[in-house]
Amino acid sequence: MYKNIIRPILFLFSPEAIHNLIFIAFKIASVVPGLKWLVGRIYCSNSKSTEVEVCGIKFPNRVGLAAGLDKNADAFEMFGKLGFGFVEVGTVTPKAQPGNPKPRVFRLKKDRALINRMGFNNQGVHHMVKKLKKAKRSVIVGGNIGKNKVTPNTEAISDYIFSFRKLHHYVDYFVVNVSSPNTPNLRELQDKEPLTQLLAALKLENNKLNSTKPIFLKIAPDITNAHLDDIIDIVGATKIDGIVATNTTIERSGLSYSDEHVKSLGAGGLSGTPLTSRSTEVIKYLVDKSNGSIPVIGAGGIMTAQDALDKLNAGASLVQLYTGFIYEGPGLIKQINKLLDEQYKS
Ligand code: FNR
Repeated sequence: MYKNIIRPILFLFSPEAIHNLIFIAFKIASVVPGLKWLVGRIYCSNSKSTEVEVCGIKFPNRVGLAAGLDKNADAFEMFGKLGFGFVEVGTVTPKAQPGNPKPRVFRLKKDRALINRMGFNNQGVHHMVKKLKKAKRSVIVGGNIGKNKVTPNTEAISDYIFSFRKLHHYVDYFVVNVSSPNTPNLRELQDKEPLTQLLAALKLENNKLNSTKPIFLKIAPDITNAHLDDIIDIVGATKIDGIVATNTTIERSGLSYSDEHVKSLGAGGLSGTPLTSRSTEVIKYLVDKSNGSIPVIGAGGIMTAQDALDKLNAGASLVQLYTGFIYEGPGLIKQINKLLDEQYKS
């Protein structure tokens, strides 16, 4: 139904308008008695064999919603009802900010891809805390944190620490986002020295708060193997818990559209099918090189159940998706869980 009826209607609107429509629909669904329950009955297919424990957290299934869709923690309960085993909210920054001028999301339908340059538009960490406090929690929630655009990289640590402190009571795990291509110079924080300082500071803060909330680092797919080796060393040295691989790519090769068309869309991160194999390659490299010692959440171009299985077979402990949800709808989560149920049953 999603692909034949709902998607053709939704795709008449701009990607950002759809985003807003989804959230309005969720708001309505959450006040209509019994509707949330019904959605859960249709889409949730958790069972003993889909469950998994990673970093001390028991996940009802291995399939999560990647960061960027529920930026303000407005709808994580509803995403849980649609079958996601965990929902990553954010990226959130200490202060609210508008993000880049619109239009800032583009569909590449022939490639089943998106290009976005949202630029961490969000209502700030205080709003997110309010939302998380208010909600009845029935889904695992990850808090994805970033820095405000106006904060220079030299002061970035204080932005991350600020949101970490505010959120640490209300999320189950953290993701440190230094890999979005849409905040100027953010990716420089992936370099050895600033990254070590940032992760060490967050780990220290976690200890100070007497908290053992797992901390994951989210990386770009565009970094070299030598850089991935450094990242493995830094994760080991700072003793953070894992890696989310990967964010969107700045690569544009192999697309079905003319270079002129792609250029006309401008800067941004590419997600969906063109990212599938590169992100799986990064996951495999990280897992092999670290001898499986670092838990990896795999993301990037999961458009079919087989894509999710490929990432798990490459060594990921969990997977996440965003673009696949937009193109395939909630049925995809059910299909993935069905396939994983078959694989892991026994
Ligand atoms: C994203 N992504 C993202 N990631 C992140 O860490 N913080 C964010 O705020 C966002 N925002 C965002 C907006 C939009 C419109 C898209 C399409 C993506 C990246 C996302 O979480 C994921 O890592 C990549 O998109 C790759 O996965 P998919 O989309 O190919 O499944």
